Amino acid sequence: MADLDGVKDAKNFCTDIPMKNEAFFLKGSNSLDWGMKNRLSNIFSPKSGKTLMLAIDHGYFQGPTTGLERVDLNIVPLLPYCDTLMLTRGILRTTIPPSFTKGVVLRASGGPSILKELSNEQLAMDMEDALRLNASALAVQVFIGGEFETQSIHNMTRLIDAGNRYGVATLAVTAVGKDMKRDARYFRLACRICAELGATYVKTYYVPEGFETVTSSCPVPIVMAGGKKIPELDALTMAYNAVQEGAAGVDMGRNIFQADSPVAMIKTVSKVVHENLKPDHALDMYETLKNEEND
Ligand code: R5P
Repeated sequence: MADLDGVKDAKNFCTDIPMKNEAFFLKGSNSLDWGMKNRLSNIFSPKSGKTLMLAIDHGYFQGPTTGLERVDLNIVPLLPYCDTLMLTRGILRTTIPPSFTKGVVLRASGGPSILKELSNEQLAMDMEDALRLNASALAVQVFIGGEFETQSIHNMTRLIDAGNRYGVATLAVTAVGKDMKRDARYFRLACRICAELGATYVKTYYVPEGFETVTSSCPVPIVMAGGKKIPELDALTMAYNAVQEGAAGVDMGRNIFQADSPVAMIKTVSKVVHENLKPDHALDMYETLKNEEND
C-alpha cells in the first residue's frame, strides 16, 4: 500500500492567475498538433522564429559534388553552427554522429539522376524509417510546370498525409525546370499550391523583385534556398534581403560549404538570419573570421 503519511494537501492553485494560452510562434502553424510543433521548434529557433538549415542533400541526384566529397571531413565541423541539417538518410546513418541533437530534415523524394528528367521523382523513403531516425521534417521536391508536375504534387500530398499521422513536418521544395522563368509570379504560384495542399513549410528561391509578395501570399513559413555558389557578399545580401522580406530563414548549401571558409560563412549567415546583421557588416565579420582561421 502506498505510504500516505505526511502527504501535504495541495493548495497552491493560484486561482487569480489565468493559464496562458499563447499562439505558436510560427506563421500558419497554430493548429498543428503538439508533436509537430515540437519538431518545428527543433528546426526554427523559438527565440528568433528563424532557421539556418544547412543543406547537404545534393548527392541524392548529383553524387559527390564539390564540397561534399567527404561529409565527415567537410561538413561535420560545421554542425555546431547550424540550426538544422537537411540531408539524405544514407549520409545521416553513415556519417553524422548520433549525438547531433538539432533538427534533422530528411530528403524523402528521389529517383532520377542529373542524367535524366529531374521532375520524374517518386517518394524515396518510408515514414517508419523517418521516425526511427528521429526526423523533424521530410523534404519533397515539387515541380510546378514541370513534366511530372502532378506526380510530384502527389508525392507531396502522400508525404503530408503520412507526416500528419505521426506529427512529422513536410517541407515542400519548389524546384524550377531549366527553361522556366524564376520570378515572383512563378514562386507565388508554386509556394501557394504547396501550402494549399498542406505543406508545413516551403523552400523557395529568392527573387530581387517582389519576393515579399511570395512570402506574404504563402500562409506557412518560407525558407530561402541558397542556389549556386556566388560571391560571399552577394550570398549574405540575398540572405539578408530574404529575411527582411518575410522569409523564416534560409536553407543554404553551396554558398556555405563551397565558401573559402565554410566555418566563417556559416557563423556569419547565422548572424544575418537570427540577428539581422546587415550585409556590409556581415562581410566584415566573414573576412575577420576567415583571416583568424589562417593566422
Ligand atoms: C536541391 O535540390 C537540394 O535539395 C538543396 O537542398 C538545395 O538546392 C539547397 O542547397 P543550395 O543552397 O546549394 O542550393
